[in-house]
Amino acid sequence: MITPQTIEQIKSRIDIIDIISDYVKLKKRGSNYLGLCPFHNEKTPSFTVSPSKELYKCFGCGKSGNAITFLMDHDKLSYVESLKWLAARYNIEIEETETSPEQKILAQTADSLYIINNYAKDFFENTLWNNDEGKEIALSYLKERGFRDETIKKFQLGYNPTEKNLLTQSLITHQFNKELLLKTGLTVVRNNDELVDNYRGRIIFPIHHNTGKIIGFGARIIGKNDKAPKYINTPENEIYVKSKILYGLYFARSPIDKAKECLLVEGYTDVISLHQAGIENVVASGGTSLTTEQIRLIKKYTNNLTIIYDGDNAGVKAALRGLDMALEEGLNVKLVLIPDNEDPDSYVNKVGTTAFKDFVANNKKDFIIFQLGILLKDAGNDINQKNNVVNNIAETLSKINRTEDFTKLQEYIKQCASLLKIDEGGLTTLVNKYKRDSIAKEEKKLYSVGDFQTQEFPQQPTTNYTDSDTLLLHQDEAIEKNILKVLFEHGYKSWNNEQSIALYVINELSPYKFHNPLLAKIYAAFIQELNEGKQPDAKTFLYHTDEAIRNMIISITASPYELSPKWDEKLQGLNITNRDNSIQDAFMSVTFFKLRKIKKMFEENQQQLEIATTPEQQLQLMKDHLLFKEEESKITKALGTVILK
Ligand code: CTP
Ligand code: MN
Repeated sequence: MITPQTIEQIKSRIDIIDIISDYVKLKKRGSNYLGLCPFHNEKTPSFTVSPSKELYKCFGCGKSGNAITFLMDHDKLSYVESLKWLAARYNIEIEETETSPEQKILAQTADSLYIINNYAKDFFENTLWNNDEGKEIALSYLKERGFRDETIKKFQLGYNPTEKNLLTQSLITHQFNKELLLKTGLTVVRNNDELVDNYRGRIIFPIHHNTGKIIGFGARIIGKNDKAPKYINTPENEIYVKSKILYGLYFARSPIDKAKECLLVEGYTDVISLHQAGIENVVASGGTSLTTEQIRLIKKYTNNLTIIYDGDNAGVKAALRGLDMALEEGLNVKLVLIPDNEDPDSYVNKVGTTAFKDFVANNKKDFIIFQLGILLKDAGNDINQKNNVVNNIAETLSKINRTEDFTKLQEYIKQCASLLKIDEGGLTTLVNKYKRDSIAKEEKKLYSVGDFQTQEFPQQPTTNYTDSDTLLLHQDEAIEKNILKVLFEHGYKSWNNEQSIALYVINELSPYKFHNPLLAKIYAAFIQELNEGKQPDAKTFLYHTDEAIRNMIISITASPYELSPKWDEKLQGLNITNRDNSIQDAFMSVTFFKLRKIKKMFEENQQQLEIATTPEQQLQLMKDHLLFKEEESKITKALGTVILK
């Protein structure tokens, strides 16, 4: 690891204008710089760089970040690689920290696995191209399937000979240790302690890490054999973690970025054939349902996912299982079914690139509507089953992130209600119920007993928030981001004669906890820096070693306050409108934060009351309820009557 001191040194030297000027012609506009965005095609400049904030943002495509993310995004460097690049540019010598013994072992094992895999990849490639058996059996098979030389070379395909241990022998002569060989899955133990090749007689598909290194292999049998599995894959080890792998991502990253869409297919050969046909924004899941990690990987590059599967039911059903997760992560999911028992590989070979592209473009089904179609068909005329379908789809719709995608949700409700032949209002109510249920569940998990005495009381609704307030009040993250934004932007201005805005905020928030763990961490770090006598702001955390923190800081700094749309209106009823903006921002952010937390306590209290068995418990909970009520009324009084009712 690079030492914090070195990172500090690099940070202090970074000149974002200087760095971005290497890539973009920038012109000064007021306090900012403006140029043509390097991340999308545009004729009029909307790419803005702020030297004071050390950030860039494109108002055309929305990309934003700091000097490091720029290098990561534009040159596809890793975080550490970007730091090294900057260090070299500014002639800063890099110091690396000592790692713990466990970390060292882990890193050593990972390194060794990479070295062995790389050796094996060369061995397999060499066999495919130069060995008689390889050429006659494997290369001819690949060519028969239509793979061209340059494609086979690009994907580094290979062949493991049928003889029992040619690769293993060669690895052993090269002094690779037996435990490690077994870990890679290239070698297995047979008849007690004989070491043999695991992928004998199979075509090898190396699987690449984002750096291009080989993390594992898929090995396909040649021809058909009912006794042996069609593919054997690398077992889980330090570098091969199946749930985090998308085959082909190494080659598809840039094309996905450009196409603003990721195509998802099932198999290795689908990826390779589509690439060969010039369709490069494609990755494969390996036929299982998508994992959250895979969805997050895709989301790094695009929000648009198009699943291209063959029409058979198994694959589609597997894909459907990943749907709710994809929606929660805010992906737009479309589905294309390939007809006539073909898969993307065979279909593109049959009809050619243009026809394939046209087919995909013309046959994109919305995934939610598609799912509804299947469910409705299965339900037939059975009333009970139809009821289930309504509930099912309402639950799916409740996963759509409604603050980001409010119109999208409205549109879905309209379409689904019409397909289900039910009332739109009724479906909306049901969707809201599922949303509330899942929020309550989440909160229950987070605010379990002992953490904070958080409770509520029966008579609901306790307060008449307006719709937009309710929306905002469901968004812990937005509310908590507001708080950090206030601290970063206005923290050192004065709240009144006695204290700064930062101190006001921290005092007001002291009885409450942050819900989002990442924001909680940043908030705690902010307070700690403050206690050490420093004046932390966004830049303090902008180059943090933790990528999640860096991204969060960028999102906080680059986005406007996520306030209730009616905020302005409400402020007019208060006396503070004439004061400095910073005071309003601080006041409203703190107020909404508190209202949100109290609302949660009410909800918890309510749930506990439902399960409370003894009169003593009930009495205590009711007392708590009154306490919260009092606190809430204090806040709303401070805010004026405008906000509520
Ligand atoms: N798969 C697997 N193990 C198996 C079968 C399949 O891991 N026993 C995974 C592989 O990643 C494979 C994908 O599921 O690529 C899709 O399987 P399938 O459609 O059967 O294979 P294809 O990729 O289409 O291979 P081919 O075109 O050579 O038949
Ligand atoms: Mn196939």
